Amino acid sequence: MGLSSAARLAVVIFTASALAQNANNTASPTITSASYTTTTFNYSAASTYLPLTDFSNEQLAFLWDQVGPIVTAAINTTVSPTPEPTSYPKPGWVHPLVPAYVPEVADAVLPDDFLWGVASAAFQVEGAVDAEGKGPSVWDLLPHRWVNAIADNTTGDISANSYYLYKQDNLRLKNLGIQSYSFSIGWARIFPFGRGPINGQGVQHYDDFFDDLEQNGIKAVVTLFHWDTPLALFDSYGAWTSEDIVADFVNYAKYVIERYDKYTTAWYTFNEPQYCNWRFSQYPFGTILPDYNGVGKGGGIRAQYLCGHYTLLAHAEVYKWYKNVYKGTKPMTFKNSANYVLANSTSAADAEAVQRVNDYNMGWFGGVWTDGDYPETLRSTLGDTLPTYTAEQKALIKGAADFYAIDAYTTYYAAAPPNGIAACVANRSDPNFPVCAVSDSVAPDGFPLGPNSDAGASWLYSTPGGVRPFLSFITKEYFPTVPSIVVSEFGFADPAESQFSTLPQILWDLRRADYIQSYLDNILAARVLDGVNVTGAFAWAIYDNYEWTSGLGTKFGLQYVNLTSQERHPKASMFQFLNWFQSHGLGKGSTANVSVPTYGRVRM
Ligand code: BGC
Repeated sequence: MGLSSAARLAVVIFTASALAQNANNTASPTITSASYTTTTFNYSAASTYLPLTDFSNEQLAFLWDQVGPIVTAAINTTVSPTPEPTSYPKPGWVHPLVPAYVPEVADAVLPDDFLWGVASAAFQVEGAVDAEGKGPSVWDLLPHRWVNAIADNTTGDISANSYYLYKQDNLRLKNLGIQSYSFSIGWARIFPFGRGPINGQGVQHYDDFFDDLEQNGIKAVVTLFHWDTPLALFDSYGAWTSEDIVADFVNYAKYVIERYDKYTTAWYTFNEPQYCNWRFSQYPFGTILPDYNGVGKGGGIRAQYLCGHYTLLAHAEVYKWYKNVYKGTKPMTFKNSANYVLANSTSAADAEAVQRVNDYNMGWFGGVWTDGDYPETLRSTLGDTLPTYTAEQKALIKGAADFYAIDAYTTYYAAAPPNGIAACVANRSDPNFPVCAVSDSVAPDGFPLGPNSDAGASWLYSTPGGVRPFLSFITKEYFPTVPSIVVSEFGFADPAESQFSTLPQILWDLRRADYIQSYLDNILAARVLDGVNVTGAFAWAIYDNYEWTSGLGTKFGLQYVNLTSQERHPKASMFQFLNWFQSHGLGKGSTANVSVPTYGRVRM
């Protein structure tokens, strides 16, 4: 029985008067309380922010509270498609498409099984971030809570709203005649907490999505993870810096694969594990979360390599399970982020710099194509900072992919740092440690390698000449065991496109069109003239979307997205892309009459 409120009040009054009396009575005993203890608090020493103790609605609400208020789109139920036009406005003879770059391959025809299409990623296009039981991902958190981390301070709350508009999007892909769509699944839509119970509404959404894609005759190329780690896994153990992530990812991957394998043409477990470099360099995400696993808020190198380590292990486990247990037959790999690297001079030091850049990008995850281990340049430089694989793990990693996937955006020159490679390797505080090489988009004579992209993608220069030798380099020199290679992403952000205010200004995206034509020509030349087994190419991106820390203002789309009305419009680059595949024997399914004049073919 509890005390009535009147009785409680009496106790308080009694206690207060007893204290008053004691204050005047020097002989009174010191008041002590056995039920109080003191402690020394230090939040920066926290190893666990929020233990994942239950999977309740309250826990989910707490996670969303961490993110903050979410904006909901005006369109917030799945939209039934309206008919697409039979022909879209497109470039005409007054300014035709960009002409061919490699005349020797102008008549080359690709086989029907060449995989091609456009690409996206769940967080970048879906919007509807807290809809239908989804849990937050760390990418829902960042724009809301990491002040000024996003160049234009936009969030991904709505983005292209494809969660609700996918039926129209799929119909347009069909109408344009695009063979395949490379997209990713949002882990936290299926497992709101990253582990534990499955969110039926999220599964229903992807069931409908896969079904609709199939109805439209578009092949699904599916990525399981494109950087949107469930926030709960960060909260409870620091996500990719903990070995715990391996089991959680494998659990998620198995569920998705078992459910959607029948719809899927090719699987990517991970998008660019090299992202551990730039995403974990300020682990954990700037200053907004505690220092999990003691890897250090400012440092980050240990966090980067833990992240890479567990990512590759998770990939290998999924791959071996898929092939050996599930007996899956679809090709599976992971996408890589790397660029073609040229030596800045003929010196031995610059040749070594090139090797180091390659090792720290492709080589880091190259155990799949070699002996299952890290390259010597990583092991000797990083020492104990680099985790080690056991013999069993190396055996798991070795051979754990069916083809190589490269997101081949650009080319760099690399040089030894001014103080020399050896001095850098010996000094962990060196700004170039651990790669100990410097890269530049400027040729040795001082001229840029190509036209630069938007300021939000300042790392990107259009360098078509680089992609052709790059494909040879990967498959013939760097990883000679690679049986085939897919250019899983290539794309360009036209400078200041977001500053245009009218549709006509936006639609003629000349630099992107030029990039598309020149890259595709060179990819084809690698196949036809250099004998590289290139089996696919995907343009980034299906339409304008959320470009990570550059926000919505940096546009990579082959279609423009009006962020107010959510209407999509194919840009000139989309017609350049479609016209290229039609010219090379593919894209026959198009009902959109995409063939347009190019220079030299037009006569008045
Ligand atoms: C990533 C995409 C990104 C694109 C352009 C790729 O590395 O996979 O998510 O939008 O580059 O920066």
